Amino acid sequence: MTMIPDRPDNRAGWDAVSAVYQERLGWPSDRLAWGVRCPFEDELRLLGDVKGLSVVVLGCGGGQDIAALAKMGAARITGVDISDRQLEHARDFLLDEDVLSSTRLVHGSVEDLRVIDDESVDIAVSIHTLNYVEHAALCFAETRRVLRANGIFAFSVQHPADAATHDLPPFGFEKPYFQVESEWPWTGLAEGDTRFRSYYRTVADWFDLLRNARFTIERILEPRPSEDSAWLETGWGQRDDFEKYATVPGTLIFVARKTGDSDAA
Ligand SMILES: C[S@@+](CC[C@H](N)C(=O)[O-])C[C@H]1O[C@@H](n2cnc3c(N)ncnc32)[C@H](O)[C@@H]1O
Repeated sequence: MTMIPDRPDNRAGWDAVSAVYQERLGWPSDRLAWGVRCPFEDELRLLGDVKGLSVVVLGCGGGQDIAALAKMGAARITGVDISDRQLEHARDFLLDEDVLSSTRLVHGSVEDLRVIDDESVDIAVSIHTLNYVEHAALCFAETRRVLRANGIFAFSVQHPADAATHDLPPFGFEKPYFQVESEWPWTGLAEGDTRFRSYYRTVADWFDLLRNARFTIERILEPRPSEDSAWLETGWGQRDDFEKYATVPGTLIFVARKTGDSDAA
């Protein structure tokens, strides 16, 4: 009999941790946050003026990224997420924030965006989601398909150097930098440990994935930690992240553009 290895199911994992994650998150809804202790979008200005533009958020979680983009003036926003519980939070949160009516929430994996029309989106944003995605090449091909010509694809992920190192000083290596797939337990967010499967691709891996999907890479950022006091009000700012992220970058950001010929038939 063939044994099927017991791989963690990220969808079940996010459903399990969602309630406590959202309770602790304290993620700002009026500023787009690219990652823990990262400078905010109002400082980095990676997306340009989003007023009136249509945006897709790949891995919209509890809705904070959508709310921030709506407050920045984005007109039509689609949020895609694999977790029912995260989407339930997003629905309630966006109703409270009074932006649910201009938002479409889609349950599914960012590897398959068939519910979104070809060339219907101006900007694709993804914040700390793509580390959970096994088939990133499918996601990038789908993202290119839904973007209009010259559309922007900007995403952040956990930096592979952060993922490879301990969270406590002196922040030495706990796994090889080159080990992409990792299974890990998140403790204290649900009963027992919740296991996740992550893909900590190297900087060069992300670059190649974008190039292979025919994106033009405009910027790669490894931001130094932000001292912005807004972080102290979140569940993340309380932790000792500042010292770690002054040693290795916590977040890696790519800004790419759909250039070249239209993909339309
Ligand atoms: C760290 S959260 C990011 C959301 C938000 N930016 C935040 O920081 O809370 C990761 C999100 O990715 C979602 N996710 C994981 N794998 C996914 C996939 N293959 N497709 C769509 N969403 C996915 C999870 O359900 C979760 O809501």
